[in-house]
Amino acid sequence: MIELQGLTKRYGDKTAVDHLTFTVRPGVVTGFLGPNGAGKSTTMRMMLGLDNPTSGDVRIDGKHYAQLSEPLKYIGALLDAKAIHGGRTAYHHLLCMAQSNRIPRHRVDEVLETVGLSAVAKKRSKGFSLGMGQRLGIAGALLGDPEILMFDEPVNGLDPEGIHWIRNLMKGLAAQGRTVFVSSHLMSEMALTADHLIVIGRGRLMADTSMSDFIEKNSRSYVRLRSPQREQLKDVMAKAGHTVVETADGGFEVSDGDAATLGELAAKHQLVLHELSPQRASLEEAFMQLTAESVEYHAHGQVGGPPVGGPGAPARGAAGQPGAPAGAPPSAGSPYGGSPYGQSPYGPSPYAPGQAAPQGQGWQQPQQGGQGAPPQAPPAPPNAPEWGAQWRDQGKKKGH
Ligand SMILES: Nc1ncnc2c1ncn2[C@@H]1O[C@H](COP(=O)(O)OP(=O)(O)OP(=O)(O)O)[C@@H](O)[C@H]1O
Ligand SMILES: [Mg+2]
Repeated sequence: MIELQGLTKRYGDKTAVDHLTFTVRPGVVTGFLGPNGAGKSTTMRMMLGLDNPTSGDVRIDGKHYAQLSEPLKYIGALLDAKAIHGGRTAYHHLLCMAQSNRIPRHRVDEVLETVGLSAVAKKRSKGFSLGMGQRLGIAGALLGDPEILMFDEPVNGLDPEGIHWIRNLMKGLAAQGRTVFVSSHLMSEMALTADHLIVIGRGRLMADTSMSDFIEKNSRSYVRLRSPQREQLKDVMAKAGHTVVETADGGFEVSDGDAATLGELAAKHQLVLHELSPQRASLEEAFMQLTAESVEYHAHGQVGGPPVGGPGAPARGAAGQPGAPAGAPPSAGSPYGGSPYGQSPYGPSPYAPGQAAPQGQGWQQPQQGGQGAPPQAPPAPPNAPEWGAQWRDQGKKKGH
């Protein structure tokens, strides 16, 4: 459990974190959201004693971080994937961490296996890609088998398989009763991973609530209707007291009635419906709705409609936004070969259903079907160990 009490951090006249009081509880994944510069990383640094609070307090299981002997056994964290001595190999980076916390050497091999970096264990980390660095950082967080795990934007740089893997990893850790605290700007990913949300804006607490409550309270749900008898339907709805908003595609949106009521009303007047669909806003829409006022850094030159979604608003990014070309080939230097996602380079998730955790690994297979059980992982790739072979061979040549 992580407890914050009035936690505040000022840098000169800038208040980065402003009287934050909340508790991160075990057994669930808690998402930490906020616009750029909201104070998420600063808050996480203070949790780990890397920054001193200007005022207020933060405790890990009732203690300040500095009071924890062998802290990696209490809390594991990934804050900055690039904060690694580039001249050290992945193995020695982790071994150094392990020895400083009296963690047995075999644990290094276990976590390297868990994150899929065994093949490059003897490779110096300065040659690692962003995603490989993220994986090494995650390995460091898992090293002490801690009850509390904290990840600052862990999916940065991970490929789709890696994102899927870390989602299952976090859900699996929470299902084991651990405390998992994770920040991310990827709202669709957060919606799939987190059960609870802490949202901050300009350093202040804006929400501390469950995912479903957050979406419900910060967005408008509505029903979409389309009918070939458009005008009659509009009249019927209006006469029944509903507020009808016409959409550009010839449909209607009604936010003051549920689908059943509206459908029965149409049936009573023998009106044909081509669509009757309840619409629920996404986490992204709810987040942007709540934090619109607290965004400090705005991009300019955006093409399209207003940033906040909702009925009638154009889909973000759709209107004239240049997108990445579909089907772009992987870069020539990719370690993944021609088809990076057809077969996973990393090996199976340790939490894949039906697959027992390796003996002595310390991570227990979460119970399937229970609350918070991770979703189905994709089938294990057949030739995962081949990934990293090029570095292994290089390492051999250089005598590592
Ligand atoms: N060492 C520092 N010195 C001065 N100002 C700082 C320092 N660290 C952070 N800040 C300021 O504190 C504010 C919060 O920064 P922080 O990195 O915590 O935000 P964040 O929520 O993690 O943002 P992002 O989503 O971009 O990672 C920012 O205005 C930042 O410029
Ligand atoms: Mg940050």
